Amino acid sequence: MSDMRCAPKRIIVTGGAGFIGSNFVHWVVDHQPDVHVTVLDALTYAGNRANLDGIPEDRMTFVHGDICDAALVDQLMVDADAIVHFAAESHNDNSIIDPAPFVRTNVEGTFTLLEAARKHGTRFHHISTDEVYGDLALDDPARFTEDSPYLPSSPYSSSKAASDMMVRAWHRTYGVDATISNCSNNYGPRQHIEKFIPRQITNILSGNRTKLYGDGLNVRDWIHTEDHSSAVWEILTRGRTGETYLIGADGERNNIDVLRAILEAMGKDADDFDWVRDRPGHDRRYAIDSTKLRRELGWQPKHTDFAQGLTDTIQWYTDHPEWWRDAKEAVEAKYAAQGQ
Ligand code: NAD
Ligand code: TYD
Repeated sequence: MSDMRCAPKRIIVTGGAGFIGSNFVHWVVDHQPDVHVTVLDALTYAGNRANLDGIPEDRMTFVHGDICDAALVDQLMVDADAIVHFAAESHNDNSIIDPAPFVRTNVEGTFTLLEAARKHGTRFHHISTDEVYGDLALDDPARFTEDSPYLPSSPYSSSKAASDMMVRAWHRTYGVDATISNCSNNYGPRQHIEKFIPRQITNILSGNRTKLYGDGLNVRDWIHTEDHSSAVWEILTRGRTGETYLIGADGERNNIDVLRAILEAMGKDADDFDWVRDRPGHDRRYAIDSTKLRRELGWQPKHTDFAQGLTDTIQWYTDHPEWWRDAKEAVEAKYAAQGQ
């Protein structure tokens, strides 16, 4: 596109073997034929090399490594035009049980990447979450904007907030060519089964009962992961340096409605679920105002039919039991130990 301010030919994608990162890598390979991707991923419990199956060898290099490994990161950055940084510990419930890996990967890992970007002058796009803004009341008409105050509630969101702050500081102090996007809750194929939607789908497919935290009225603003990918590409190539862009697709829904939609789509009774212990510090509502992204960069989501997106996601988990079956028992045992 003619108004691209950054036209990268070689990009590093950290966390490219995870849920959103792998969907982004597939999106780039499918939509940007001149771009080569180097994935840097530690293959934690959340990473899966098979998420990148089908990508032609000449389009992608896979590096199994840690974003906290300064020597490796430095070496990879030598011939990269840009880095898109997805790698993180990403699950709130895990951060409550053990916050240490969240500080290491999300804070120290981002620091390590920023230092290499500073040295090599690499364009840096940082992937973050709307959870850095804390939560909104159910009866509040307000939505988060780029000017909302940072008020993170959980070890996860506070570690992401810390990483965002460093990206802003490295831009201002050292002139790193950085942008940040804060996106709402993603859904779609290849999301780890510890997360809400795939946990419930795979519970039903396994003959387990589905689980709802607290009163089930918490609201999340759902976006299909493919829409997240297209937005990130627009920001990477056309976003203004030093700026933050919120990504959302006007998908506010409460948990009980989402769960009932899953149950009904899978031929179950809409009340066929267990109420379980609430998450400590559970954020009430997230909602994104993505006017800046839409006005400035002309981005629009394509997957606006949530029922269709959910049906496709259910189909994906139904068609790929080999992808999730081995992890299911351990995930449920971990939740059961927490009363969830
Ligand atoms: P995920 O847990 O599915 O994947 C994380 C990936 O990072 C995995 O492949 C893992 O192996 C890798 N990783 C973890 N630690 C690493 C390390 N030290 N070095 C290298 N690789 C490492 O996460 P996700 O849901 O795909 O989230 C990706 C990014 O998007 C995160 O930064 C997250 O904060 C952000 N985000 C997620 C959501 C959501 O709804 N899931 C919403 C907004 C923003
Ligand atoms: P989750 O997918 O963990 O995302 P996040 O914490 O980043 O919003 O959870 C989404 C919502 O679903 C959140 O309000 C917690 C709730 N939830 C349940 O009700 N039951 C579950 O089994 C899980 C995993 C989450």
